Amino acid sequence: MSEHRIELTLNGDRHQATVEGRKTLCDFLRADMGCTGVHIGCEHGVCGACTVIVDGLAVRSCLMLAVQVDGCEVTTVEGLTGSDGALHPVQQALRDEHGLQCGFCTPGIVMTLAALTQASGQTYADSLLEAMSGHVCRCTGYQGIRRAALELAASTEPNKA
Ligand code: FES
Ligand code: FES
Repeated sequence: MSEHRIELTLNGDRHQATVEGRKTLCDFLRADMGCTGVHIGCEHGVCGACTVIVDGLAVRSCLMLAVQVDGCEVTTVEGLTGSDGALHPVQQALRDEHGLQCGFCTPGIVMTLAALTQASGQTYADSLLEAMSGHVCRCTGYQGIRRAALELAASTEPNKA
């Protein structure tokens, strides 16, 4: 069984860890780092529940190995909320538009939308809605999630308030 020493920045803090070569990133984040907001659904890249941000990009953590984030900056949903408890704009939009019910899919959706809105500072409705097509929600019927994505786009697209 091969073990590897890795270093990463997780939610703003530097960490070192020893991981098995076969350990997935989602298992590492949940079991070793206590980030239980990383939800595991399908475990084969389809549902989007396990999405986290690695070096600015939204990734499916069930499809990555922990060793692959050596030297990377990783953000989970635990790292989005401000130290004062203030919700991230994506979280606020989902709350405002009733875009969640049981919440199982929610962290993954939040991370995908956060990665897109943080990447450019400008977001477009089409790109946000297209990104949402990669997330499965068994509860909401998607309309609240769709409204939240549109609210985010409306607040960041050029020439819009
Ligand atoms: S658990 Fe990773 S995409 Fe479903
Ligand atoms: S809110 Fe329950 S799966 Fe999306």
